[in-house]
Amino acid sequence: AANGAKAGKTRNIVEKMEESGKNCIIFYGSQTGTAEDYASRLAKEGKSRFGLETMVADLEDYDFDNLDAIPNDKVVVFVLATYGEGEPTDNAVDFTEFITGEDPSFSLGNDVPLDNLNYVAFGLGNNTYEHYNSMVRNVNKALEKLGAHRIGEAGEGDDGAGTMEEDFLAWKDPMWTALAEKLGLEEREAVYEPIFGITDRENLTREAPEVYVGEPNRMHLDGTPKGPFNAHNPYIAPIKTSYELFNVKDRNCLHMDIDVSGSNLTYQTGDHVAVWPTNAGEEVDRFLDIFDLTGKRHNVISVKALEPTAKVPFPTPTTFDAIARYHMEICSPVSRQFIATLAAFAPDDESKAEMTKLGSDKDYFHSKVNTHCLNISRLLANVSKGKKWTNVPFSALIEGVTKLQPRYYSISSSSLENPKLISITAVVESQNLPGRGDPFRGVATNYLLALKEKQNGDPNPSPFGLSYEITGPRNKYDGVHVPVHVRHSNFKLPSDPSKPVIMVGPGTGVAPFRGFVRERRKMVEDGKTVGKTILFFGCRKSAEDFLYEKEWEEAKQVLGDKFELVLAFSREGSKKVYVQHRLQERAKEINELLQQKAYFYVCGDAANMAREVNTVLSQIISGERGIPEAKAEEIVKQMRAANQYQEDVWS
Ligand code: FAD
Ligand code: 2AM
Repeated sequence: AANGAKAGKTRNIVEKMEESGKNCIIFYGSQTGTAEDYASRLAKEGKSRFGLETMVADLEDYDFDNLDAIPNDKVVVFVLATYGEGEPTDNAVDFTEFITGEDPSFSLGNDVPLDNLNYVAFGLGNNTYEHYNSMVRNVNKALEKLGAHRIGEAGEGDDGAGTMEEDFLAWKDPMWTALAEKLGLEEREAVYEPIFGITDRENLTREAPEVYVGEPNRMHLDGTPKGPFNAHNPYIAPIKTSYELFNVKDRNCLHMDIDVSGSNLTYQTGDHVAVWPTNAGEEVDRFLDIFDLTGKRHNVISVKALEPTAKVPFPTPTTFDAIARYHMEICSPVSRQFIATLAAFAPDDESKAEMTKLGSDKDYFHSKVNTHCLNISRLLANVSKGKKWTNVPFSALIEGVTKLQPRYYSISSSSLENPKLISITAVVESQNLPGRGDPFRGVATNYLLALKEKQNGDPNPSPFGLSYEITGPRNKYDGVHVPVHVRHSNFKLPSDPSKPVIMVGPGTGVAPFRGFVRERRKMVEDGKTVGKTILFFGCRKSAEDFLYEKEWEEAKQVLGDKFELVLAFSREGSKKVYVQHRLQERAKEINELLQQKAYFYVCGDAANMAREVNTVLSQIISGERGIPEAKAEEIVKQMRAANQYQEDVWS
């Protein structure tokens, strides 16, 4: 389990705590960065409010067989996200296997192995998924079984209900009270202490070869990026083709083919590709401006962790501009806790009072910030009426603004047809919100759109066009390349091509099914026999957002009656017609196919569609087999467990 082992670094957590003088370690299991962010926030708060010596740790960087040797005047915090179908995040796989295993073996061999261990637990989940918060629930159960002592409740945040942040805030205060009592800590007045030190590197310009201007790591800086390409090391892939699948007022959908033949990247049909986005120039400008960094934007700085256990989240030396553009999630929602922290640095009393109110009043915050999708710089400019926030230490921004995250897309090509071509099908996120001025634009999708425009040399950039630095000092992102890596998934066609498949994918949920259909088409061209292949696709109107219409006709030419496309246009008649209505209309056939062990796939919206499809499928089975609905639900559950029912959903 030496995945995360770095040269010269110990994997022994007891040793690490001793040598660094820490009494509180906060482990995170994180996929998209939120759990990591919460872990950092807990570390900061524990230190500033209670004088705890905290450290944040990646679960994959340590071994766990000596959790039993952590003394009981210390505390271990677990912040654990649940990923997909109740799975651990990539960095938590080894830990989960160990701790929830049959009989984990610990260093001391005591009867009640973890009797000395004090722990705290918070989970991040999504109630639209079947296995809600299963990570924190399973780990908590396992720790209890091993005799460990939990402090406070095991908290659960729900992304599905959109209450993650508030669930976290509501959970942490009573937890701190319980923890202070258990360890005999006194609360003190919180004082801000920077975690990162910033040094001006006046002798360097951003053209200097050792200065990072967006490169994710040393190999990229040296111009010699090599694989493995993964979540720490993207491949800067040439874009082969890109075009709009549709473009109607305020909505459009992109198709992009990415050429990975210059790399050793591999994928299987049904996998995900991660796109590493760049922030839009307009937002970078706004961010630098509100903190009065515009004049210094290209100054070279070094950033150093002032604490031995803190990690600088980007490579340095670098520039303020590069940090804001390539490494910080400057457009994302601002947390209430961060607002409360920033209040101390407000440019005037009025702004300070407003920030304090926003930080402490949940409903006020929601009405003023969330509903307008305000990001940090827009919010601060509103609060101070444009006055600059010159007092905010840059360290506070590194600590408070999350790391810019890659976005995942369901690969819409077939690896059998072309193992070195990865296709993306993405709807460009854009919303007109009252009272905001300009529309809200999603980070990655608008970046992809800009790349498409650049690549095609479009003379009339679409009205969505934002400006991107696609010709930085080293021409890394020249507009015809996009940084990517691949994440393997379990969303797969049956290995036996003659098995029937039923696919349900409205909107961009059709993405992986384009790959599936192309895969079966290729199989037929190669002389194989494939089973019945039915695709349920839904969109608003046949003439508006019908994705890949031509391609389905071409597939039909090859697959003949093995392929069937069932359509649900939701806005053509007087009543909404959705994919699940179409499923219901064909109840008899669906049930027969399932009894022939057809695989059933759902992709797209997790919040409503996937759930409703699940319910309809139970109803179909119940009706057709004449069994109670509870029994049918049980059958659907078993289908899921046996991988006969697979989901690839997102919210
Ligand atoms: P972001 O900038 O990340 O914004 C997304 C949403 O976050 C906004 O709509 C808004 O609701 C919220 N938000 C952002 N900023 C704020 C703010 N300041 N205040 C309040 N709310 C805010 N998408 C596809 O189109 N096709 C696919 O095939 C596909 N496959 C996926 C597969 C997986 C496994 C996953 C997890 C996701 C998939 N997605 C897919 C979704 C995709 O990853 C992105 O989430 C999506 O493209 C939006 O990214 P963005 O950067 O453009 O938007
Ligand atoms: P609507 O927007 O007209 O309501 C792709 O987004 C398609 O999925 C659209 O036709 C959309 O319809 C439809 N859709 C919206 N909500 C849905 C749901 N709960 N179940 C299935 N399809 C849905």
